[in-house]
Amino acid sequence: MKTQVAIIGAGPSGLLLAQLLHLQGIDTILLEARSPDYVLGRIRAGVLEQGTVDLLREAKANARMDREGQVHEGVGLSFAGRQERIDLKGLTGGKTVMVYGQTEVTKDLMDARAQEKGVSFYEAANVRLHDFQTDHPRVTFQKDGETLEIECDYIAGCDGFHGVSRQSVPTGALQTYEKVYPFGWLGVLSRTPPVSHELIYANHERGFALCSMRNAQLSRYYVQCPLEDKTADWSDQRFWDELRSRLPQHVAASMVTGPSIEKSIAPLRSFVVEPMKFGRLFLVGDAAHIVPPTGAKGLNLAASDVNTLYRVLTKAYQDGRVDLLDKYSEICLRRIWKAERFSWWMTSVLHKFSDDPFNQRIQMAELEYYTSSLAGRTSIAENYVGLPYEAIV
Ligand code: APR
Ligand code: PHB
Repeated sequence: MKTQVAIIGAGPSGLLLAQLLHLQGIDTILLEARSPDYVLGRIRAGVLEQGTVDLLREAKANARMDREGQVHEGVGLSFAGRQERIDLKGLTGGKTVMVYGQTEVTKDLMDARAQEKGVSFYEAANVRLHDFQTDHPRVTFQKDGETLEIECDYIAGCDGFHGVSRQSVPTGALQTYEKVYPFGWLGVLSRTPPVSHELIYANHERGFALCSMRNAQLSRYYVQCPLEDKTADWSDQRFWDELRSRLPQHVAASMVTGPSIEKSIAPLRSFVVEPMKFGRLFLVGDAAHIVPPTGAKGLNLAASDVNTLYRVLTKAYQDGRVDLLDKYSEICLRRIWKAERFSWWMTSVLHKFSDDPFNQRIQMAELEYYTSSLAGRTSIAENYVGLPYEAIV
């Protein structure tokens, strides 16, 4: 088989890249290790930056998002028993975020791919990348026991943190930067009305908590928990009690609880690999970087990588601007490190790291300073709605 761009991984990065390239007349083949149902079964974050929303519109995968997604103009921060609102819209000259689950984004992109009759192989086993340091990269894989080969111009490694793409680069050619946090997030999805119409991020002496949602009848809540904990340690009752104990009293009092329909524990990590291009292989999204979820940046960073790669590939194919391909990594990394900083900062000020009273006082001072100063609130708001994309020229 032959294609222009072989895309490894059909998560949001791979699917969105495929769709945008298709609309520019660039041919792709998608290879995904899992089944469509497995990919859609993963519950992930749900806050889309304006840039991500605009890109989904450009990809023409926006109809359901525009119907069902909720535009949020503000976000709440609670600490020391009080609640502060960050007026995202007012502080950023009108920018907002869209609450729409990653699962829904993935489904919409899958549907778009199916409609355009794009070639995708799900449950592709033993995906291997070859010759990407030459002008003739190849990808081999097994499907239903048969070995297949794709010849291509470029490979997009969109296969997440555990994927094969990053691991195919010779050791020593990539530099990694990593921070692992000493706690996890226990998340619960429940068919209950959200406790607040805007998200609430809470710092509490018992640990962090987050009130989020998917829609008017579906809530998503998180509490910081020890890494060793198992979901079996957390009955629904224990979860609700713990969540309520970490929220301001008036919020806890109006919380509607119900049976959990999903419960999982996720570790928190910051990770960046440099560079993100090696020969004709481009790393995209979680394959190149991870952020702790506290800033809601994971999916949005993946979208901004896709935005950059799709534009440089389009200019390379349509205008012969192959020089831009070498800029992919530096353009992406400038924005990635700023999002890494914001996610690290949000994680640092909102979680319980120790019983050290000095650290706790510094956290309170950070939160009080940032929420009481216009400069501080603006800084949070402009990062939360998403920093601008760089023009590709
Ligand atoms: N071969 C083919 N596909 C693979 C392989 C492999 N060897 N390894 C992993 N994959 C697939 C995974 O099954 C998954 O569907 O690659 C896909 C990667 O998807 P994600 O992990 O969702 O990563 P990405 O598309 O970059 O999405 C951005 O940012 O913070 C997160 O929650 C956010 O998942 C979102 C991500
Ligand atoms: C979520 O709704 O799952 C969510 C929202 C905001 C975050 C992280 C997760 O920062």
